[in-house]
Amino acid sequence: MEELTPKLIRTSTLTEFKTSGRKFSCLTSYDALTSGAFDEAGIEVLLVGDSAADNVLGYSSTLPITLDEMIPFGRAVASATKRALVVVDMPFGSYETSPAEALANGIRIMKLTGAGAVKLEGGERSAAAIAALVTAGIPVMGHIGFTPQSVHALGGFKVQGRGDSREQLIEDALAVQNAGAFAVVLELVPAELATEVSNLLNIPTIGIGAGAGTDGQILVWTDFAGLHAGKPRKFVKRYLELRADLVAAASKYREEIANGVFPARENEF
Ligand code: KIV
Repeated sequence: MEELTPKLIRTSTLTEFKTSGRKFSCLTSYDALTSGAFDEAGIEVLLVGDSAADNVLGYSSTLPITLDEMIPFGRAVASATKRALVVVDMPFGSYETSPAEALANGIRIMKLTGAGAVKLEGGERSAAAIAALVTAGIPVMGHIGFTPQSVHALGGFKVQGRGDSREQLIEDALAVQNAGAFAVVLELVPAELATEVSNLLNIPTIGIGAGAGTDGQILVWTDFAGLHAGKPRKFVKRYLELRADLVAAASKYREEIANGVFPARENEF
């Protein structure tokens, strides 16, 4: 088993991992209890993803979630995390209008959550926003390939970087790096292209549906834990069947109450 690094994970730690060829792991988290557990397990990066939109708030995509809604999730995760690097997603609408707006919102996230970095989507189109944040001392994680906030423009949940869009994906990766990002998420990218980009960049790449050649991997925690009904997407591996276990446990609880088994004498005062 890989040994845990006995120190706080900083952006520079991820760079050191890349240099030494050590792969690292990331999970999303939106609350104090899961982040505490993932931190104890040694997960190096906890992303307070805007996937809180669909995973916690019940929205049908990540588009509606606001900065005000993201902040309590960020604060909860950061407050329960001792070792992992906590990264908070900048939601749709909080960084696209101007670098100054991106900076104001990035400062708000850093002040109010206690996180160590922010993440935003887009390659060349987001380079100026990334540069503004980095210049002000805010570490930024980029996110290219399939960018969920652009789901409508991209025509749905599709693999990116195939055919003509291959060169654009490489340009986007370089633009994010040159703007000063410390790492970049590659989402739904063919494995061979993701490996090429990972070899090309000096900054760590973090894959989701991008094969085994990236420097780190990320999964949405509810996917990793099997909290969703139905068949998982191809790139997801379920490490638990939490939904099935919860349904079974809740059914047993209901039955035990109906049959007078719970509460038992040992549960009484
Ligand atoms: O919000 C999120 O969960 C993400 C991951 C898919 C990387 O951005």
